[in-house]
Amino acid sequence: MEVVILADATQIGGVAADAISILLSRKPDAVLGLATGSSPLAIYDELVARCDAGLITFGQARGFTLDEYVGLPADHAERYRNVIDRVFVSRVDFAPGAVQGPDGLAADIPAACAAYENAIRAVGGVDLQILGIGTDGHIGFNEPGSSLASRTRIKTLTRQTRVDNARFFGDDVESVPTHCLTQGLATIMEARHLILVATGRSKSEAVHHLVEGAVSALWPATILQHHPHVTVLLDDAAARRLQLVDYYRETYLAKPDWQGI
Ligand code: F6R
Repeated sequence: MEVVILADATQIGGVAADAISILLSRKPDAVLGLATGSSPLAIYDELVARCDAGLITFGQARGFTLDEYVGLPADHAERYRNVIDRVFVSRVDFAPGAVQGPDGLAADIPAACAAYENAIRAVGGVDLQILGIGTDGHIGFNEPGSSLASRTRIKTLTRQTRVDNARFFGDDVESVPTHCLTQGLATIMEARHLILVATGRSKSEAVHHLVEGAVSALWPATILQHHPHVTVLLDDAAARRLQLVDYYRETYLAKPDWQGI
């Protein structure tokens, strides 16, 4: 696990966008794993700028979102399918239908989850997965207690996650759905490169467990310690509880420019 501590979200967006740009130049039909929420917004803004400038294209790329609320109407602004379209997909040049998400309105939820796993498998898996992390240590919506071997399925959101996400629902926690569909931890672990972004003090406890804690279903993101290629991009506030913070900084500073994340 590589830990990179940067000044702010803009720098984080730049470093992540560099990795995605290199991937797309090497593999134009790359499969990207897309997270919603606040953490990846600076990455998406930077990718949009590079696409506008003609530096990169998503014309052959595909995308899969991590998760979706169950039961939000198709036109609801906070439905993750609509969020990812608004903040990223509609602003670049993906082909129509190139980005998919789990179907939170499916009548047969287990069948929809299995179909989603099959769709990811059919394109050869995710090359690069963008992740945020919840204050309770979730990735995707794999809440504490999730099986470390889980696949795409329905989950109940914790009260903490619903409180955290109430800001997107007029600060009304009761308006935040209680359930979601999420890629499982084992699904996420199959992506070839994982880039996890965390900023702000509220994420520092989860980041501490993710990087330096014991692997445990209580802090689901800790499963990433078993992945061979994870990059954790943090600002100072999110990194404040890391014991080896100086080591992570020195290591990144000493890295040759040609060696990406
Ligand atoms: C969203 C997702 C979640 C978020 C996490 C952090 O698709 O999978 O795991 O990444 O809840 O959310 P933010 O970035 O809004 O703090």
